[in-house]
Amino acid sequence: PLPPICTTFEPYFLLSPDRLQDILSHFRKEMEDGLESYGKDVAMVPSYVTGVPDGTEQGTFLALDLGGTNLRVCEVRLFGQHKFELKQQKYKVSEELKEGEARVLFDYIADSVDAFLTEIGSDISSNEPMHLGFTFSFPVEQTAIDAGKLLTWTKGFNAKNAIGNDVVKLLQDAFDRKHIHVRCSAIVNDTVGTLLSRSYQSGPALIGAIFGTGTNGAYIDKTRTIKKLGEEKIKEAEAGGQHAGEYMVVNTEWGAFDNGRNCLPVSIFDNKLDRESINPRKQAFEKMVSGMYLGEITRNILLHLIDASVLFNGYSSKTINTHYGYDTAFVSAVEAAKSPEDIKKLIITQLGVDPKHISEGDPEIVQWACKVVSERACALAAVAVAAVVQHTGNDQVKEGEEDKGVDVGIDGSVAEFLPRFAERVSSTLKVLLGEEGGKRVRTGLAKDGSGVGAALTALQAKKAMDKRT
Ligand code: BG6
Ligand code: GLC
Repeated sequence: PLPPICTTFEPYFLLSPDRLQDILSHFRKEMEDGLESYGKDVAMVPSYVTGVPDGTEQGTFLALDLGGTNLRVCEVRLFGQHKFELKQQKYKVSEELKEGEARVLFDYIADSVDAFLTEIGSDISSNEPMHLGFTFSFPVEQTAIDAGKLLTWTKGFNAKNAIGNDVVKLLQDAFDRKHIHVRCSAIVNDTVGTLLSRSYQSGPALIGAIFGTGTNGAYIDKTRTIKKLGEEKIKEAEAGGQHAGEYMVVNTEWGAFDNGRNCLPVSIFDNKLDRESINPRKQAFEKMVSGMYLGEITRNILLHLIDASVLFNGYSSKTINTHYGYDTAFVSAVEAAKSPEDIKKLIITQLGVDPKHISEGDPEIVQWACKVVSERACALAAVAVAAVVQHTGNDQVKEGEEDKGVDVGIDGSVAEFLPRFAERVSSTLKVLLGEEGGKRVRTGLAKDGSGVGAALTALQAKKAMDKRT
């Protein structure tokens, strides 16, 4: 049996239906606030992407992807008929680069593109500069499809002299400094990319969501609803876009939901994580849901239980004592384990605990910690999806319309590797939207979505540019 101390923490992790509904209503309120005015936690960033693709798009583009596990450079060939081909190379971004000077980081990115073009080659042959779509997975206040200022860094990044600057310019300057013949023609958040890519591949989607290193979602809203744009801009957008601009993709930046801590179940383990993070009091929601943090929350729980002498006989290990000593892959492995014996092996090999300190009941305690942290992450993920579904009125079938359900494209390591992620999200959606409502929401993995999404946005930008010249 679990030690009683464990059960005292369960209310912070195993959330009741009422608690979830309460978080959902706060979530909707913060989304609405973000649409009304600038400077809100849930930033609700207009993307200037005014339509989703229909699968007929064609062309070859470069795509760059910064902000997930790896920096990726891709060449994407869109064939139309919902088909594409992707050549890609991953590059590691060191901690020094993440926290050093922005100029050095962007030089490294430009060098990676150069290396890709030299080593992998490109099928794009022309005298014109190559068009590149930049998936930049951080909050950017966009002013156009190819311009936007970095609002704040999130996840493990903290590079100096970037916040407040135009990210496209930072990248373009690096290309120009190095005489690399590439033009960054569009910037896109990974969630927007995922939404576009999902739509390209499997028909119109409402939401693109990332549950990876960080978490965030983008969705399609009526441009009119983004009140903070102001009447003039709304009219301009409505007149200009590829699909007449009645709709625009909004990047919610939901990772910052409830930074004011009004409703999220903040436990002592979350407080410790936040206090020791490089961005305290920021990204409150993300810190409970995303891959950068799930391992760390469980580490905090295990440490507490060790200190209370109910786990590993009160002994720790170097890994458990180290900040971010292990990552969410451990949680996934424990969640997937078939027996206490398997968990014991993981404790020895991945946490480095001396076998002589592991008592018979310990694997169960470790499993419990991983389970409650995962359950909460999945339930909160569902809250975010449900909030968007309700906000857009998609929780009900419109009268006289055929019920096509709601499609959500998902990407990221948590969605991909955490056991039963989709199943758990779906069961909470039923709690929040009712059995029938929940069933109508289809989630599907849109792997590597943002490469394709970036290419699609670059295509949209190129078309607009060709129209002007
Ligand atoms: C990738 C996308 O597949 O998933 C990235 O191309 C995105 O743009 C990433 O950021 C998120 O997953 P993770 O787990 O790598 O952060
Ligand atoms: C963080 C970023 C956001 C991104 C998400 C997923 O929350 O702020 O822009 O979409 O991570 O990568």
